[in-house]
Amino acid sequence: MNVTFLLNGETVQVEAEPTRTLLDWLREDHGLCGTKEGCNEGDCGACTVMVTDAGGAKALNACILFLPQLHGKAVRTVEGISAPDGTLHPVQQAMVDHHGSQCGFCTPGFIAAMATGHLHGRTDHDDVLAGNLCRCTGYAPIVRAAQSAEAAQVPTWIKDEVPVVDGVPYAPETLNALSDWYVSNPDATLIAGATDVGLWVTKQLRDLPEVAFLNRCGPLREITETHDDIHFGAAVTMTEVLAAIREVHPSYAEMIRRYGSEQVRNAATIGGNIANGSPIGDNPPALIALGATLHLRHGTRLRDLPIEEFFIAYGKQDRAPGELVSGVTVPKNAPALRCYKISKRFDQDISAVCGCFNVTVVDGLVSEARIAFGGMAGTPHRAHGVEAALIGQPWTSATIADAADLFAQDYTPMSDMRASADYRLTVAQNLLQRYFADLNGQVTSVLEVSA
Ligand SMILES: Cc1cc2nc3c(=O)[nH]c(=O)nc-3n(C[C@H](O)[C@H](O)[C@H](O)COP(=O)(O)OP(=O)(O)OC[C@H]3O[C@@H](n4cnc5c(N)ncnc54)[C@H](O)[C@@H]3O)c2cc1C
Ligand code: FES
Ligand code: FES
Repeated sequence: MNVTFLLNGETVQVEAEPTRTLLDWLREDHGLCGTKEGCNEGDCGACTVMVTDAGGAKALNACILFLPQLHGKAVRTVEGISAPDGTLHPVQQAMVDHHGSQCGFCTPGFIAAMATGHLHGRTDHDDVLAGNLCRCTGYAPIVRAAQSAEAAQVPTWIKDEVPVVDGVPYAPETLNALSDWYVSNPDATLIAGATDVGLWVTKQLRDLPEVAFLNRCGPLREITETHDDIHFGAAVTMTEVLAAIREVHPSYAEMIRRYGSEQVRNAATIGGNIANGSPIGDNPPALIALGATLHLRHGTRLRDLPIEEFFIAYGKQDRAPGELVSGVTVPKNAPALRCYKISKRFDQDISAVCGCFNVTVVDGLVSEARIAFGGMAGTPHRAHGVEAALIGQPWTSATIADAADLFAQDYTPMSDMRASADYRLTVAQNLLQRYFADLNGQVTSVLEVSA
């Protein structure tokens, strides 16, 4: 595949294998070894680079970023973050001044993440750096360095223009072209953000002979809003989803703030998080609790369905060969929506249990209830028994206590390395209590962390 992009300000043209990662190419083919390989699965941030597209600069993990995803973009590695004459970027100087580096292995990744945060004037350093793992320095000096560089001007050399490139067949730019191609190649793999598919390649060593990339397909990248709904194209990233829902669904947004890391959210798409059918994906329970509508497309045939009907069984979704997820429409009016993500770590961790509650109380009685969980079964799905036990009842702690027992009928969770079945069931019951307390105005968060 022919790929054209800017690398540290210089145009490069590469004939790339579809799943050649940027990290391997940089280190093995291009002799730029500043970008480090730690986990090779998106978890540690050692491979962080700055990638600029039409939407601006973002930090991404090069280890799960395929070269064809870079067509028409600009990449800056740690080698291009200082000036061509060697002048340090303000975040680099600050790391020196504040002793932000010991063994130095993580430092190029931190620098790339910090320089991207600095470019955008970010001061939420905990969030910006949550995807970067440092095993020796400790985070306090690194965060101090980031703080001390806040006021420094963004150096001119760091700002990249997006290069003008021709279209490429492997990344269709219209939905018609993409759908037609997929109908003719139903066994092909669609690649959106590659935060799942990347690991199939780096960890499972899978060959993917036929692929199409979604990131240049304009309609899949769109967010549109009406009075009642927000529509997300399937290839909208989690960073963009977070920004779009922050006002309207603050609790959902707060959960998404803990989805992977900055680098993962900049790549992962809402469509990929639904299409993969994972029982522990964070969006599906929230979208089910909101009553979202999923949009699918097979050639020219369009199909809409309530998102909860998409998840049929573990590993089985209601999607025909050659049919793609084109988007999801999310209702805006849900003031009582609360999303609780339970994971071993606060940041950068997959949920053990994710519970989303959307209950309407009118004159003290429950009139509607949509409760959905991830991590409690082979698919994300609703707690129909609990919902039925709430509807028509007074919104009281006695009703909550009675209804909570029905989680055991709604779900048969499994035990795995994230949590035991017992733990999951107990957590689900406790989350209903928490929701009750939360709606009654009690402070329920025990997870506040700050540097
Ligand atoms: C370090 C790390 C942390 C993570 N943390 C979280 C987390 O906290 N919460 C969470 O929920 N997930 C997490 N994930 C999982 C991952 O980010 C998500 O599942 C992600 O949303 C997948 O989206 P993607 O765009 O990267 O999909 P891809 O990897 O590109 O694709 C995933 C699957 O969906 C298919 N697909 C993609 N788009 C479409 C489409 N439009 N139509 C049909 N099929 C399609 C692909 O063919 C593939 O089968 C994490 C992953 C990593 C690597
Ligand atoms: S090497 Fe760990 S995130 Fe890429
Ligand atoms: S300085 Fe050694 S891992 Fe961060």
